[in-house]
This record gives sequence, C-alpha cells and structure tokens, in this order.
Amino acid sequence: MLALSKEEQTTVQEAGDLVVELRSVSKHYGDTVAVANASLSARRGELVCLLGPSGCGKTTTLRMVAGFVEPTSGTVSINGVDMTRQPPYRRDTGMVFQSYALFPHMTVAENIAFGLENLKWARVDREKRVSEMLKLVELPHLAQRLPSQLSGGQQQRIALARALAMRPAVLLLDEPFSNLDAQLRVRMREELREVIRGVDVTTLFVTHDQEEALTMSDRIVVMNAGQIEQVGTPGEIYEAPSTSFVAKFIGWCSLLNGIVDADGVFTSGGGLRLKGHWSPGAGTAVIRPEQIKLSSDGARGTALTALVLQSHYYGGATRLLLEVNGEQLTMEDRFAFGRQPKVGDVLAIVISADDIRVIQSK
Ligand SMILES: Nc1ncnc2c1ncn2[C@@H]1O[C@H](COP(=O)(O)OP(=O)(O)O)[C@@H](O)[C@H]1O
Ligand SMILES: [Mg+2]
Repeated sequence: MLALSKEEQTTVQEAGDLVVELRSVSKHYGDTVAVANASLSARRGELVCLLGPSGCGKTTTLRMVAGFVEPTSGTVSINGVDMTRQPPYRRDTGMVFQSYALFPHMTVAENIAFGLENLKWARVDREKRVSEMLKLVELPHLAQRLPSQLSGGQQQRIALARALAMRPAVLLLDEPFSNLDAQLRVRMREELREVIRGVDVTTLFVTHDQEEALTMSDRIVVMNAGQIEQVGTPGEIYEAPSTSFVAKFIGWCSLLNGIVDADGVFTSGGGLRLKGHWSPGAGTAVIRPEQIKLSSDGARGTALTALVLQSHYYGGATRLLLEVNGEQLTMEDRFAFGRQPKVGDVLAIVISADDIRVIQSK
C-alpha cells in the first residue's frame, strides 16, 4: 500500500469533505463583471456566509452554485462532481429566495410537497416528509393555510421547510431575513442555525449584514466589487482583516496609515506612535473601538490625551470620536451611569497595542 505523508492525508481527507467547490469562477454581463475569478468551498455540514455590500456579486455567486446562472469561466463542483453545465434540478441544492417565492395558490403543505410530487413520491411518503418538515420549523398547525395567511417570519420558515424537504446536499439562502423586522431577524438567526445544525446540511448563506455573518457562520467569504477579499472564521475576519476594506466593512474601526520602524514601532502619518512587534514597512493600523480604554479603568500602558469630538449614547455603551496626537479614533465604552463624556471633555486613554492589527502595504 502506498504510504501518504501526513500532509497528503489531510489533503485527501479535505478534498473528500468538500461539498461545494468553486474554482476561478467569473460571470460577465456585457461589460459588467459581476463575479471575478472567485474560488471558494464549503465542507460537509459547514455554514459559509457570502458577505459584502449590495452589488458585490453575492447573489450571482449563489445562483451559479444553484445552476440558475451559467459562469462565463471557471467550474462549480458539488460533492466532487463537475456541475458547471448541469441544470439546477441535477445539482442536489435547495434554495430559499430573498422574496421566499412560495406558490400563492398552494397551501403550506402543498408548497412543501411540491418538489417531492415532481419526483413522483407516493402520497403517504410525501405526507410523512411534509409533517416532519413542519415539525422541524415548528409550524405543524399551519399545514392548510395559504401563504397570504402567514406572517413574514412564517413564510420564511415554510420556504426553508420546502427547500429542506428534498434533503439537498447543499442549502442556499439569499438574504433570507431581509424582509423581517429587526427583532424577528435576530430570533430567526438563532432558529435557522439550530435547524441547520439539526439536519446537518452544508449551507451557503448570502447577507450584507455583518452581524448576521459574524453570529451565524462557521466561515465568512467577504466580497467586494465581484472579488473575494478574504475567507476566514468570524474571529479571523474581525481580528485579523487582510485588507482595509474587510476591516472597515466588518465592525467599526479607525484606520491609520503609517510606517513600522526597525524596532517594530508604528508611527501614523499624523504622528501617533504605537509600540508593538509588527514587521517593518508601510502599513495600515486597524484600531477597534474596544481596544481603546480609559487609563482610569486601570488599563496598562502609556496614557495619551484625547479630546472628545463627538459622543453618541447607545444606552448600553457610548461611542466617542476622539482626537489623539493628530489622529481621529473611535472608542466605545460602558461609562458609569451619569458619567457620559461630553464634547470638549479631555480624557486619558490607553491603546492596547498588543493585539492591534497592522495590514502591510503591498
Ligand atoms: N442579469 C443581469 N444582467 C446584468 N447585470 C447583472 C445581472 N445580474 C446581476 N448583475 C450585475 O452584477 C453585479 C452583481 O450583482 P449581484 O450578484 O446581484 O450582487 P449582490 O447580490 O451582491 O447585491 C451588479 O453590478 C449587478 O447590477
Ligand atoms: Mg443579492
């Protein structure tokens, strides 16, 4: 038997584990490049989120996986089989559209059974699967309703039940919560995550909402203008963004351009110095609001003088825009009741440079 090195074994195992794989996929519409040379993958049972601003190519990418859009170049594989030129019904994917797209003249039960009926499933089997799915989304009492008699959240759950009824290898969701109000959106996030875990289906999820992506995903693919900027876990994307775009798009931050000297000290264009251990050269420091602390809170390090330029009260926390050594920085803190800083106040702050990311200029 051929012995494989540890590295080769991992590669073999990972390749077998890839349920979705896009290799250098592009989609052009005339002169518009909707998606440029995108490569991404999803492992078995993984929830991968495509995150980016409106128009960056998320829906086009998802539709290329589903087979509704044919790539201009590149390949789409599902479970190791090249599906690039295969029609949607051959791909073993289930899709939940932004608008839900339930059939309005069919009951909830008929909607869920639709795909099974096309496959000529026997009636008893259909009914069994429909009731399983209704139980899964916790709406068994609504089987005989029409979509128009459901709330937005209920329609969304039925669309999910319809997609999962076929037990697809891949579940595809395009901004499934965008039509729901803010509170319901947060609840549906948790529910969806739980349902997906329960059935263990590999999922590609599209959103422009960074909080949704951070809370739900195993891995996030950040897209910008048709290109993939970074792929990583929520922690990697937030704490170690590889580009300024990613840093700015995910969470609040202050970006300072500057230079790291031979001793690893960063000096910004405005003259703010941070002592760290970054590699020498030009770069951009990414300072998250929570990395700035009040020195009166016992934060260790050199105290800097900060002038409050703006103060925004959010109840649980206050976000401040500060001027510090010629730079503007955003900080966020939970100040004691009645102790909210005001515009014009001067504070002593400490920047915890240890875990600040400096993106090296290319
Ligand atoms: N059918 C189409 N014809 C022409 N341009 C399109 C078509 N679909 C999408 N586009 C363009 O491709 C880009 C990406 O669109 P889309 O994938 O829908 O972005 P997102 O889902 O991230 O908002 C946009 O500039 C959009 O206008
Ligand atoms: Mg879209």
